[in-house]
Amino acid sequence: MRMVDLIAKTRDHQALTTAELQWLIQNYVADKIPDYQMSAWLMAVYFNGLSDAEQGALAQAMLDSGERLDLTAIPGVKVDKHSTGGVGDKLSIPLVPLVACFGVPVPMVSGRGLGFTGGTLDKLESIPGFNVHLTSAQFIQQVTMIHQAITSASQQLAPADQRLYALRDVTGTVASKPLIASSIMSKKLASGTDALLFDVKSGNGAFMPDDQAAENLAQALLAIAQHAGVKAVAMITDMNQPLGITIGNSLEVAESIALLKGRGPQDVHQLLVAQAAQMLKLGGKTPSLEVAMGMVEDALKDGRAAKAFKQLIQAQGGDPRVVDDPRRLPQATHKVAVKAAASGVVTAMDTKALGTAVMQIGGGRATQSDALDLTAGIVLHKKLGTPVTPGETLAVVYASSVDPARVATQVRDAYTIAAGPIEKPSLIHRILS
Ligand code: URA
Repeated sequence: MRMVDLIAKTRDHQALTTAELQWLIQNYVADKIPDYQMSAWLMAVYFNGLSDAEQGALAQAMLDSGERLDLTAIPGVKVDKHSTGGVGDKLSIPLVPLVACFGVPVPMVSGRGLGFTGGTLDKLESIPGFNVHLTSAQFIQQVTMIHQAITSASQQLAPADQRLYALRDVTGTVASKPLIASSIMSKKLASGTDALLFDVKSGNGAFMPDDQAAENLAQALLAIAQHAGVKAVAMITDMNQPLGITIGNSLEVAESIALLKGRGPQDVHQLLVAQAAQMLKLGGKTPSLEVAMGMVEDALKDGRAAKAFKQLIQAQGGDPRVVDDPRRLPQATHKVAVKAAASGVVTAMDTKALGTAVMQIGGGRATQSDALDLTAGIVLHKKLGTPVTPGETLAVVYASSVDPARVATQVRDAYTIAAGPIEKPSLIHRILS
């Protein structure tokens, strides 16, 4: 087989066989296919898509590139969660300890920033010392001991996703249903989980711009999960404005800590409680979502959730004191306030432009070797539906390695201020299972 022929087949809308997809993935991981050929194939997939059969075979080939962990020795239903990616979506960070504090094991294999969206692993690395590279043995031991662990895809776990994810990030090939579905499912199935919650983002800050595209992606994820014998639920949730009030790695960890103490912004708190309740139900802790929501609210109020986060940080080599004192997280050396020029109501936000602005000041990567400025980010003072007067602060931009003022105009332009009021989008659009 020759890679050039497979690129041409996908370019010409001809389906690849399961054997061809296995060959393509195996040889890429073995360094026998160069990045330039893989990039060309990814771009062909981006434009032409893959059939359902190819999509399933690609996910399987990527899963087969590494091991599938056996967690059967750990008692209880193991439940993991994955978001398809959004701006300011820090939810995985508080969700893991929040669910784990009820004794539901959460074995999470997560990702880095992708395109204009941030990634859980980059965010966690803003906690001094936090190690996101666990060996399989460490991962299993940690889930056994404290019911929770967060690690990256690796040489052992879905190595094909580890490589392709980083390549897609810098080749404009992220927003593709089959590539997203196979990326997510290869690492999620590798973790050995029994059940999965998908948060499929829909809107102008998501890879899927509308509910139809988001639903197609959700159905693809559910179909692959069902085929693998993993129970799954997909929530389609709103991404027409950033989630919460922070975008950027260390800022989002600080907001996650506030959430774990029950003091987070209302939208992200509401989604956290709804998702934790779904995970407790999947984990067999209660058949009732309403009861689960009450249990979750209690754990946020009485300190159990924050305590579980300290345990997670400690187990992964990080400094747990950040939970009591978030000022121990990296702090930016420069900041600039972005002021409103007009009066009215925030009627629209260009969420992708805000995510891109954070990337441009060091919060994300433009090339694979880019080092991140973990302090770079934005704190939003105004969101959809809020009234604004001229000169009022819309947002504050933070950075340490460059002058944050360089994206001030972009941030201002991301806000549409017009005569209101508007109907705010509902946070949860649909739930599928
Ligand atoms: N999350 C992933 O793990 N992969 C994608 O491609 C998108 C979101």
